[in-house]
Amino acid sequence: PLVDEWSGRHEKEQVLRNLLSLQEVHIVPGNSDESVQTQTLLASEAARFIFSKLESRMITAVTGGSTIAKIAEQLPSSSKFQQLQFVAARGGIGKDVQLQANTIASMFAQKLNGSYKTLYIPDTLSESAYEAMKAEPFVQEMMDLYEQMSILVHGIGDATEMARRRNSTAEDLKFLKERQAVSEAFGYYFNAKGEVVHRIRTIGVQLEQLEQTPYIVAVAGGAQKAQALQSYFQQAPRQSVLITDEGAADQLIHH
Ligand code: F6P
Repeated sequence: PLVDEWSGRHEKEQVLRNLLSLQEVHIVPGNSDESVQTQTLLASEAARFIFSKLESRMITAVTGGSTIAKIAEQLPSSSKFQQLQFVAARGGIGKDVQLQANTIASMFAQKLNGSYKTLYIPDTLSESAYEAMKAEPFVQEMMDLYEQMSILVHGIGDATEMARRRNSTAEDLKFLKERQAVSEAFGYYFNAKGEVVHRIRTIGVQLEQLEQTPYIVAVAGGAQKAQALQSYFQQAPRQSVLITDEGAADQLIHH
């Protein structure tokens, strides 16, 4: 039965690769919505993948969220690589410090004996604050790091769920609904066709910068995220590697 389970999952990986037009998909057993054990498996699979791609002096950007936070926990403590740099993919967000990209970047750095750069600015900026910030040297520095990143590790969320988590106003929610936002990743909201319908006004990784990023590791599991995954991968960078679970995979395959 173990062998069957294994080969079954590998078949599903192939189906998902075709369905989402990706070259590499990893599926761990179980459904993250229902099982903490699956969440841990998902995180350790991602941690293993990231570790296998690291080289000295690489720059890695990470997003926030509970999934990516767990990856940091699962990384080995290692000083195998020199001068690794970790950066938050976006400015701060929300209330829970443990789930902020800044905190997660520092956790990665601690585990892997690297350094980290944080970006402590509000999650959403006014138009004028945004324009002013962009001219700040520390923001320029961040932008340079994004230009040079080798790895981006990011979560994917359901658009409405993310808007709620961000304490978006009723007006914002209405806006996202009107534009039929389905998924969210690194501050961008996407519709069912994978088109960008909204972007949070903050300093962070730009979609265009992903084109030249060698490794993009998208980590998201749970049946409830199937629609979001379907939406995001319509137009996601083709070098993305998806690390997910059977809960999301089964839902994607059968719907
Ligand atoms: O807020 C950061 C973020 O990575 C979002 O871009 C993404 O939609 C979400 O977190 C995923 O969160 P979680 O892993 O907790 O479901």
